[in-house]
Amino acid sequence: MKALVIHGPNLNMLGKREPEVYGTKTLEQVDKEVKALGKELGMEVECVQLNGEGEIAGRIQKGDFDVLVINPAAYTHTSITIRDAIAAVGKPAIEVHISNIHKREEYRRKSFIAEVSVGQISGFGTDSYLLAMRAAAGILARP
Ligand code: DQA
Repeated sequence: MKALVIHGPNLNMLGKREPEVYGTKTLEQVDKEVKALGKELGMEVECVQLNGEGEIAGRIQKGDFDVLVINPAAYTHTSITIRDAIAAVGKPAIEVHISNIHKREEYRRKSFIAEVSVGQISGFGTDSYLLAMRAAAGILARP
């Protein structure tokens, strides 16, 4: 069983970018933790960071995964393209946010991704990804 983890725009800056909001871990450290947990849970894991909306849609369209864990970053609030790509492949998706998007600016409260996701994990720092991996394992274990 394979989990594809997509990090959206600006998440390559983790560790340096607004550390008071997103923490001090780098993306490389986060991916290492995600892959280690994936292994423990018996999953193959691919992690990818993409800054472009079309690039993200193209990667999702490949459909070479059983479950998608996605932090669409700012595209969460704007992208019907990514929403439609998730709907098109028809694979279960988990929406992830490091910060609690409901506790921040008004414009971050709207997610175009939520309606095509099994659920959303938001506000647990970079541990949100680890919680999402556990949720992914649960989804894959369903009969
Ligand atoms: C984010 C929240 C988004 O609003 C923001 O644009 C991001 C990161 C998060 O992980 O908390 O880039 O998705």
